[in-house]
Amino acid sequence: MVVSKHLRRNRARLFLAVASVSILLILSFTYQSVDSNEYSVIDTDTIKEHPVPPPKPQVPLDFPPAVEEIAPHSPKQPKGKTNRPQSNKIKKPTPDQLKTIRDYTVFFDKLEDFAIHAESIKDKYTTDKAKELFSSSDDFLFSKQYLENVLDIPQDTFDKLKNSHTRYVEQRIPDLVDKLGFSTFGNILESDKEWNEYQGSAGYVLVGGGRYSWLSYLVIRQIRASGGKLPIELFIPTKSDYDEEFCEKVLPKLNARCNVFDTNLANNLAARFKIGGYQYKMLALISSKFENVLYLDSDNFPTKNVEYLFESKQYKDSHLLLWPDAWARTTNPKFFEIAGVEVKENKLRYSAYDKKQAQLADKPLDPLSSYTFENSNFHDFEGSLPDPTSETGMLVINKTTHLKTLLLCLYYNVFGPDFYYPIMTQGSAGEGDKESFIAAAHVLGNRYFQTAKQFRWTGYVSEADGKFTSKALGHFDPAYDEQSGKEADIIFMHLSYPKYYPNWLVDNHDLVYEKSGKHIRMYADINDNVGYDFDLRVLQFFTQGLCPNYFNEEGLAVDGTEGPRKSKDFMGPFLPYVGSDDEINSKRCEEVFIPHLKWLKETTQFPDNSVIV
Ligand SMILES: *[C@@H]1O[C@H](CO)[C@@H](O)[C@H](O)[C@H]1NC(C)=O
Repeated sequence: MVVSKHLRRNRARLFLAVASVSILLILSFTYQSVDSNEYSVIDTDTIKEHPVPPPKPQVPLDFPPAVEEIAPHSPKQPKGKTNRPQSNKIKKPTPDQLKTIRDYTVFFDKLEDFAIHAESIKDKYTTDKAKELFSSSDDFLFSKQYLENVLDIPQDTFDKLKNSHTRYVEQRIPDLVDKLGFSTFGNILESDKEWNEYQGSAGYVLVGGGRYSWLSYLVIRQIRASGGKLPIELFIPTKSDYDEEFCEKVLPKLNARCNVFDTNLANNLAARFKIGGYQYKMLALISSKFENVLYLDSDNFPTKNVEYLFESKQYKDSHLLLWPDAWARTTNPKFFEIAGVEVKENKLRYSAYDKKQAQLADKPLDPLSSYTFENSNFHDFEGSLPDPTSETGMLVINKTTHLKTLLLCLYYNVFGPDFYYPIMTQGSAGEGDKESFIAAAHVLGNRYFQTAKQFRWTGYVSEADGKFTSKALGHFDPAYDEQSGKEADIIFMHLSYPKYYPNWLVDNHDLVYEKSGKHIRMYADINDNVGYDFDLRVLQFFTQGLCPNYFNEEGLAVDGTEGPRKSKDFMGPFLPYVGSDDEINSKRCEEVFIPHLKWLKETTQFPDNSVIV
């Protein structure tokens, strides 16, 4: 709190703090890229998701002004109508078509016809990228004029985008859905006998491969430790990322399996559309066997059994649950023109900026109807996408209800890096796929529910510089009832900085202060909320999975913890990411991880329920 007051008083220092953290991060990324376990392009892409661990926000995080449930704008469909074609209209695909459905190529066939033959608009700013401000900030006006002039979008590029988008929505999607008789975002048809089993099915989807399989493994352990029962799929982009021992021996015991994507198709898509990184999320969804998917980034841990989300009212009403990011929306107004969505000069809600202005003028707020595009936040107007932005490190979606949403989302992601990611975010924090789900649902007039309560920056005031340092994002329960008077439950911990890569944790001194050697409890902030010691929970899985020297000759834990066995818990023999660095990891274990685990155990306030093995 001291820190946040301090920052409020001194914006220059805030800037310095952010700048110095950025430099630290750049240094740590440089290290990552020389790591012997270097994997693939996804690394940097995923890391970019939260480019700067932000300082403690200047405004106490409270319930944001954003509307909780968004009544969708419906340009093309009457409300309440689902995407599904009427069964009697379903056409049976020909055998040739059926083949392209089964192998997913139908989703990408002739997608080149929609390519935007223009220079990429990424980083093409008129002057500078969009301001990176919290959605709660009250001193900057994101007006229509401001947002329209961040990216320099040539008229010709705009025309091509609009043409491509219109054809995709008006021809391509109906062609796929109505003519081929698709009912869901996947390769199963309503006429298949497996459909009955598919309908209503639900499970977790994570993306693995290389070091991502290691992170995902920790998340999977946590899902099971906290009581999650639904099956889990780990998406593996290509055969070369497939770790047989891990997929065949470790995961089945956790009711999880590897979903290995077709290597030829993956390579084909990489060559045609440079698909990789963020876009794997779409491939993981398409090829998932579940109708209802809880997607999790591989560094995003549920804190408890979250399967009630599938049964929640919020999900039953919308079939798409999203969580907010911290950042103010900076979408270019031209996006709405491209998508054929009218934004009316009809203001629907006040933003923090309006309240501040009224306060400064010592006047009550003007009526909403008196505002114009010139003096209001653009994203408060009818038809626009509301603040705040989305954080798609987790989402819950019904692939049948949201077939069209996902088809449009696929388009945004295929043409994302060069066009749609920039236009949706304009260089502000976390530019990437994060807005593509909310945008696709919005443009098609499909319902979605974005959790109202802003996540909690989780971290501590560092002894090294006296500043708050954010280590994770604690996301709240969307079903939380504000009236209940109780604190909302944190149900996901997105452990973005640091991620649980052994080199990162050690080299960046995330667990132990470099100078004093004192141990750090990174997430102490949220332990009362979740009811156990989160640092300890995660570090136990981490240490037993990574450290051969955590086990004695009998294969039992050296600290006497009951349960862990080297034969089943040490991942060296199963994951090359762990096994190939045996020696250096043993050293890190001896010097940092094992002593740190010991310290966490000795000092925990939750000795009974933190370690679950
Ligand atoms: C998903 O959506 C389809 C179509 O709207 C529906 O039949 C199915 O029951 C839904 N599944 C769940 C779990 O709500």
